[in-house]
Formats: sequence, C-alpha cells, structure tokens
Amino acid sequence: MRFSYFIFSFVTLFTLQFSGQNRKVIDLKEDWKFSKGNIQAASQKGFDDTKWETVNVPHDWAIYGPFDKEIDKQTVAIEQNGEKIPTEKTGRTGALPYIGDGWYRKTFKLSDVNENQKVLLTFDGAMSQPKVYVNGKKVGEWNYGYNYFYFDITDVLEEDNVLAVHLSNQGESSRWYPGAGLYRKVQLIVKNKESINHWGTFITTPLVFEDVAKVNVKTNVTGSDLKLVTTVFDADGNQVVSNQTITLFDNQFEQNIPVSNPKLWSPESPYLYTAVLKLYKDEKLIDEVSTKFGIRTMAYEANKGFSLNGKVRKFKGVCLHHDLGPLGAAINRSALRRQLRILKDMGVDAIRSSHNMPSLEQLELCDEMGFMFLAESFDEWAKAKVKNGYHQFFEADVEKDLVNLIHATRNHPCIVMWSSGNEVPDQFGAEGVKRAKRLQDIFHREDPTRPVTVGMDRVAQTMKSGFGALLDVPGLNYRLHLYEEAFEMFPQGFILGSETASTVSSRGVYKFPVEKASMKQYNDFQCSSYDLEYCSWSNVPDDDFVLQDDKPWVIGEFVWTGFDYLGEPTPYDDKWPSRSSYFGINDLAGLPKDRFYLYRSRWNTEDETLHVLPHWNWEGREGETTPVFVYTSYNSAELFVNGKSMGIQKKNNETPQNRYRLMWMDVNYEPGTLKVVAFDDHGNLSEEKEIHTAGTAYKIVLEPEEQKIKANGEDLAFVRVSVVDKNGIPCPTATNQLEFKVSGKGTYHAACNGDATSLELFHLPTMKLFSGKLVVLVQTTKEAGDIKLKVSGKGLKTGHVTIQSVIP
Ligand code: GAL
Repeated sequence: MRFSYFIFSFVTLFTLQFSGQNRKVIDLKEDWKFSKGNIQAASQKGFDDTKWETVNVPHDWAIYGPFDKEIDKQTVAIEQNGEKIPTEKTGRTGALPYIGDGWYRKTFKLSDVNENQKVLLTFDGAMSQPKVYVNGKKVGEWNYGYNYFYFDITDVLEEDNVLAVHLSNQGESSRWYPGAGLYRKVQLIVKNKESINHWGTFITTPLVFEDVAKVNVKTNVTGSDLKLVTTVFDADGNQVVSNQTITLFDNQFEQNIPVSNPKLWSPESPYLYTAVLKLYKDEKLIDEVSTKFGIRTMAYEANKGFSLNGKVRKFKGVCLHHDLGPLGAAINRSALRRQLRILKDMGVDAIRSSHNMPSLEQLELCDEMGFMFLAESFDEWAKAKVKNGYHQFFEADVEKDLVNLIHATRNHPCIVMWSSGNEVPDQFGAEGVKRAKRLQDIFHREDPTRPVTVGMDRVAQTMKSGFGALLDVPGLNYRLHLYEEAFEMFPQGFILGSETASTVSSRGVYKFPVEKASMKQYNDFQCSSYDLEYCSWSNVPDDDFVLQDDKPWVIGEFVWTGFDYLGEPTPYDDKWPSRSSYFGINDLAGLPKDRFYLYRSRWNTEDETLHVLPHWNWEGREGETTPVFVYTSYNSAELFVNGKSMGIQKKNNETPQNRYRLMWMDVNYEPGTLKVVAFDDHGNLSEEKEIHTAGTAYKIVLEPEEQKIKANGEDLAFVRVSVVDKNGIPCPTATNQLEFKVSGKGTYHAACNGDATSLELFHLPTMKLFSGKLVVLVQTTKEAGDIKLKVSGKGLKTGHVTIQSVIP
C-alpha cells in the first residue's frame, strides 16, 4: 500500500501540521474568497468569485464595522436584569454588522487519495448556521456557531476542489457580540479508512500515586486485525513507557499504562506528557496520532471543597467571552496567549468560557501555561433569552452539540469542570429540572471524570425545584445573600461562585463624590474606577472576597469578566454610543484597570502589589475632596501629598472595603506628588510608590509587550502607547489623536484604546488616546526581520520602536 498526497496548488496554501506518512492535517488558512450576501449560486463549483475579497481564515467579517446604532437595535426588557419595561438597546451586540449572510470559498487540490483513504473537513466553529458544500454538493450543516464539527467529504472529492461555506446570522440571536464568519480554524485531515477515529482518543488518569500513575487510554478505531502501540513521552521528549494491545472491545482499544514517578499537572506546574498512538495492520503502520495530556487528580467533596492533586484550593477565576477586542471573534493564538499572560500576572488560575465552547487554541494554551478551565456550553436551553437564540435548536441539537464539545476537548488537563448552561430561563419549572438532568447525564456518559455545573441566577427557584440539588456543582451567579441558605439547602456541601462581581469601571476615569452605587450613569457614559459601582443584580469585588475568605465551603469564584468585550454595555445598554462592556478587570485593549491590582493584591501570592489611584491630574479640583485608594498586598501604608502625611491606613474588618483596600477618603487635591509608603507586618518600610501631576503632553512613548515575535504571518506584537510631559511624567487624561505607520517585515493590524463609547474603527491606522493610553497591534509577515512602528500626533514628539520578527 502506498499513500502519497500531492498538494499541487500553491504550496503556500497549506501548512502541513503533522507529516506522518499516514495522516496529514492541512490548515486551510490563506486565499479564501469572501463575500457578504446570500448568493445562491455561490455553492456551485464553477461560480466566479474572482471579484470577491481575498481573506485569511480565521476571519470575522463584522469587526471592520462601521459601528452603527441601528444594527441589532433591540427594543426589549432584559428579564435577567430585572427589567420590566422594554427600552431601546443599542450596543447590545456591539453595533457591528454581524447580521446577514456571508459566503466563503476556497479551492484546493488533493490528488492520489486512493480508495483506502478518507478525507475529513473540520471546523472549530463557524458563526453561524454553516452550510458546507464541496464541489457543489452539500456535505453538511451545523447550527450552533460555537461548536466544533466535521464532515467526511471523501465521496465528493475530485482532483480540483471547491469548498463553499454559507453562513447566516440572525438579529436578536445573542446577548453579546458573536462575531461573524469562519472565525476559527478550518482543516482537512487525510487518513486511511482504517484508522484512529476523529476525536477517538480519551486519556484519563484514574489512579495517581507518588511512585506511579495509571494512565487509561481508550481509543476508538475503524478497521480489523489491528494493533495499537501507545508510547508516552515526557515534556522533554524522552520516552517514558510504551504499551501495545490487539484486543478490541467492539471498536475500542483500552490500555492502562503505568507512568512511574509522575510529574503532576497544576496551574503552578503545568507539566504535559505526550501520548503517541500508532496503529498497525499486518505490522504495517497505518495511522499515528499524538495527544498531549496531564496527570492530575481532582475531587469535589462535601465539607472539604475542591482539591487538585490532593490539595484543597479555591478557584481564582475569571469569565471570558470569546472576542479578542479589536480582533473581534477571529481567533489568534498570540492574542490569546497575551490575555493569559496578563491574567497570570494577576494571579488568576482558572477561566470560564462564558457562555459557550472555547477555542481549541485557548485550551492548548491553558494546558501549557497553567490555567484550570470551566468549559461552558450554552446560554440558552429550550426557553428563550433572546428571540433567535439557541432555544430554536435546543431539542434537535443539544445532544450532538454536547457530544462534540466533550469529544473534542476531553483530553485537556486544564478542564476541571463542565457547565451545561448559564442562567438558563429553564431554571423555572419541572421541565427545566428534567433538562438539567438530561444534559448532566450526557456529560457523565461521555466523560465520567468531571463534574457538571450550571451558573444559576434564580437561586430561590432552584432551591425549591430540585434543580440546584441535582447538579454535581451548584454554581451561583451573584446572589451573595443566598449563599448560606443555598449551602444549607443543597446536598453537595459546597458552593461555587460561578459568576461574581460584575463591577463596572472605565480605565482611568474617576467620578466624585466617591460612593457605592448601583446602575450609576454619567453624562460621558463612563463608569468610575474607584471600583464601587455595580449593577442591580451584582456587587463590588470585596463582597465576594468576604465569602471566599470566611466560608470554607465556597470553592472559589469566576469574576465577570477578565477583559472587557464587545456588546452588553451595562449600565448604558440604552445609551448610544456605548458599544462594549464596562465589566472587565482589563479594558478592551487588554490594559489593566485599577481593579486589576485589587485582584492581584490578593491572588498573586508570588509578587507584592502596590497600586495607587486615582491619577493626580485634577485641574479645577484644587482643594476638593479627592479620595485616594491603595490596592496592595501589604497590610498598611502611609500616604503623603506633597510631603505632608495623610496618616497611616491599616486593613481592618469594619467594612468589606476596609478589609481589602487602603482608603484615605478626606484627601484634598493639590497638584504635585502623591506618595505611598507600604509597611510589612512588622511595621518596616517595604515599598513606596509615587505619582505626579503631569504637564502638557510632549512626547509619545511606545512600550512593546514583546520584543520578538514569530515570522509566521499571524503573530502579533502588542505595543502600549502613551504620552508623557517634558519631564517624562505620564499624562493620564490625554486624548490626542495619533497616527500609526508600520514598515519592515510587519503590517499594521489594529488599535484599541479601551473606550467603550469610541466609534473609531480598530483597523484604521489612527485613534485617539483614552485616559492617556492605547494599544497598537502589529502583525508579522512570513519574512523574518525588523518591524518598525512609528506613532505620531499633532504637536507631539513622534515615538518609534523596533520589534524583531524571527523564524518560528
Ligand atoms: C450575568 C450573565 C452574563 C452577563 C452578566 C453581566 O447575569 O450571566 O452573561 O450578562 O450578568 O453582569
């Protein structure tokens, strides 16, 4: 038997990921043709698409805008938010043009695929309702835009092939920006008919001792007279152990492989092994698949809580929507890595993919970088939250959607819990209880190793109906006042804060007087960064901290949200031009808001935190009360204004805020220097920090977050841009319009300033600073070399930076 595949067309079209003899994985990334509109004939092979735009996939057709108030304008009462009267919601889904139809077409050549082989076409997600055609023949469709799916296209292949994908997005189908198009990767897998099935491997580690771990490998195959050899390699590529079997149970091999002295996977030490599975027939290798896995144990126990590798710990988690700010929904590995790097520094150890299936890239990165993962599936079951939401597909699709989620992702050690839903209105009524059980049973059937939660907001109902009692992990969204009662009522013996806080703030914006407030609005449609503003259903971070710290049965929290996202601009849902969220601990550009340091001061136990707010540029507020907060890992500190002591503050238990923040409420503003001196537990001076009143903006400063990126045409460098005065003092209120120019071996990709009300388009090479800052994203080409970014602005000294793009 000889297998060879020649890919004739442009060699650059394809990247061969795995070039084993018997299986090829081909990324379909470049040279796609794209057009908006419902063009019936576009499914046909001979259709002329030469005038269409040429794009790369992942691609989000809507992120290029323009923002428009009329897009997906929804006159609704958001019931989950307790609204009774419908109002006009403008930026609910980001005000970007995601609604409507779109077509993607791509030609590819595959020859020498012989009769013993098959070809799968895989999608990691497509937004939404993709209908897929190869050579004019429909090969399948999938409704849910967030799921992974694949089709066997062997029977329709010719030598020259045309793949056409039709996507269609309905208005009022989402509560946030969903993105549009082929926003995740698309691949071809060419392999033998007799081979390891797609997603056919399931690796678990049921027994873990210090000297040995039992690694259980179940492998579904197609074929007869087969032998499977599984070899485990350590993280350095050394062979650890090998095991073979010829015993098939129906179509499944099962191996229990001992790994001696196992190195365990955890967020602190994300150690990964690789299992290489080789399938033989008549001693001939016919398939080879390689899967990374981790060895770890976990338990969720009454009166003990959650433990990983035998150690009790609480989730220090954040919820994330899938969009990547200025990139929209289009997946980019370097942008995902950057998010995780920022969160790592904050001390985060867990992510919740709210409210849908995560990208495989994000899971791979969480495995590698050490984040536990709560993989969620749906925001709706059979009952609607939005007119055209998932409820329309629930009955027909829920089973296959869950099976695909589990099969595609179950080998990721990072996943420690599934979620079958978020705040589903099915929490009401007996039918909902049955649905919760049905979905949880599917998870248990397909993966007996992980528990299932639902993020519940109707906690009183779920206490009565039995809904909460049947879940493996009762997840409470907000509802702090019900934690105690739910703990008493529910049988599990622990409670998860599946969604917490929903505090709102705008980076670098401070409002006076400084006071706690719910659904507070201002004329500029911003929220105050004193971190005291929240929504009618939510709270400030400190309120969660109290429960997390004082109740051993609370097993952690997932804060809403790690980063701002497009859409859902609460508390300005009905105020144009608000078009993105205020919930983020980091803004839409990935720049930390003050809240970042509040969480860091408690979650990052490796490094000290000492952060002062607000900024000290309050022209016109001279003599007025301007409270100063310090977010710090130290217990006490002294504050000085222009050398005058404002006294020492110590964390204390008077209020939740006093417990977690140092606050000087009576400071009168005078320009100059604000200095904070922090003390260790023995009262010794440990660290100090100063901020200064800045003069007029003078010079642009560029700080690349990475010096070297990969010349692969995908990697991004994130460059932080700010302005300083003549003395180098950052100007925290600057709003200068800046222009960006990239030369050398890179291209300008996007910019973002984190302003939730900005209608400037991310992909145009100009943007205003917001609170003195923005971020420019520069992308590599496939050629290595220097990339130069120049940022200029009227009346400002230009900023230059060089980033190296290196051979991957
Ligand atoms: C929750 C919901 C999230 C988001 C959040 C805003 O109730 O699960 O998707 O809407 O509120 O506070």
